[in-house]
Parts: sequence; structure tokens; C-alpha cells
Amino acid sequence: MENIFPVYDQLISREEKENFLNQKASVFWLTGLSGSGKTTIAKQVERILFNKGFFVQLIDGDNVRSGLCSNLSFTIEDRKENIRRIAELTALSLRQGIICINTFVSPTRDIRQMAHDIIGAEDFNEIYINTPLEECEKRDVKGLYQKARAGEIKGFTGIDSPFEMPLDPALTISTSQSIQESAIQLVDFVLTKVQPT
Ligand code: ADX
Repeated sequence: MENIFPVYDQLISREEKENFLNQKASVFWLTGLSGSGKTTIAKQVERILFNKGFFVQLIDGDNVRSGLCSNLSFTIEDRKENIRRIAELTALSLRQGIICINTFVSPTRDIRQMAHDIIGAEDFNEIYINTPLEECEKRDVKGLYQKARAGEIKGFTGIDSPFEMPLDPALTISTSQSIQESAIQLVDFVLTKVQPT
């Protein structure tokens, strides 16, 4: 097949960079409702991995939506564009040998499939943070569910915008355990993918 990115041939390879970093790069894509605990778990996982000597990048909806994707709304089309940009960014980070943890609602199977296709099946690990809507709504950390129920926010995931649960995630994390236990469960999974050979 014709190489449409010839410049990559002139760059230091992913493999060399992985060797430099003493790790294998991979992407851990956390999906779940707003308030499900994605970012909280991911922050702990980032810290644990970093302390073990791994080089990790964590990006999440709230920080990306205040910068790179600040012009996007929460319509399904804009969510798709949000995830497209993040997936492309992540594909670039992967080439730098970086372990990527992404925490995005990424609500539909179609949207996550797009991320999977951009990143590549080999490197894409779908992680489902399976916290029931009732629990997320009870927590309502940002007060957004209350606003959505009051009709002040339209198209809120789980209320009047869909969330399609993953059919075949690489890992499911349930909230019947503590944040600490969830983080350890995810770290154990990550370690099966990122150890240097
Ligand atoms: S995604 O659907 O495009 O993947 P993303 O993860 O970037 O969403 O952003 C979700 C975060 O935006 C939520 O955690 C919440 O804080 C905030 N938010 C604001 N409006 C909405 C909405 N209508 N639906 C879901 N999340 C929203």
C-alpha cells in the first residue's frame, strides 16, 4: 500500500521511543455517564503508574472542552467531532510511546467505534465505568443532573440524550467497590498491556 505519511519514515519510531520510555504505549478509553467516576479513577491510576515509572497522559472531557474543543456543544454531531479530535490527538501521542488514559462520556457505540478505528484495534482498550444513572444522579457532583431534570440543560446524557453501554468492553469497572479498588483493578489491567518486553 502507498505510504501516505512519508514523513513518519524520517521520524524516530514509536518503538524507539517506547524503548526510551521503557514501556509499551496503549490507549485506555474510559466511557460512562457523567459523574460515573471516570476522572476520579483515572487520576489515581495516572498517579500509581507514574510512581511506578511509567509515562502517562490523562485527558478528559472537562479540560479538552475548555480548550481544543471549546467551540463544540453536546449535540450528537458535536460529541462525535469532540471524540474525533481527541482520538486523532491520542493517535499522535501513541506514536510518541505514551500511555494514554482518556475519560470521555463518548455516549454511543458509533462514536466509540470511530475512536477505535482512528486509534486502531491493537491499541484501543475500551473500559466501561459501569455506574448506574441513579447513583450518578444521587452524587450529582457538578449539580448538572438537577439542572437537566429542571430542563435548564438540554440533551444531557442519561436524561434526554442516550448512553449506549459497551457490548464487549475490555474491562468493566463496577461501583460496588471503592475508588481505590477500582483504580487498582484498572492498574492491574493496564500493566498487562504496557510492560516492556
Ligand atoms: S462527550 O459526550 O462529548 O464524550 P465529554 O466527556 O467531552 O462528553 O464531556 C462530558 C462532561 O461535560 C460531563 O462530565 C459534564 O460535566 C459536562 N456536560 C455539560 N453538558 C453536558 C451534556 N449535555 N451531556 C453530558 N455532559 C455534559
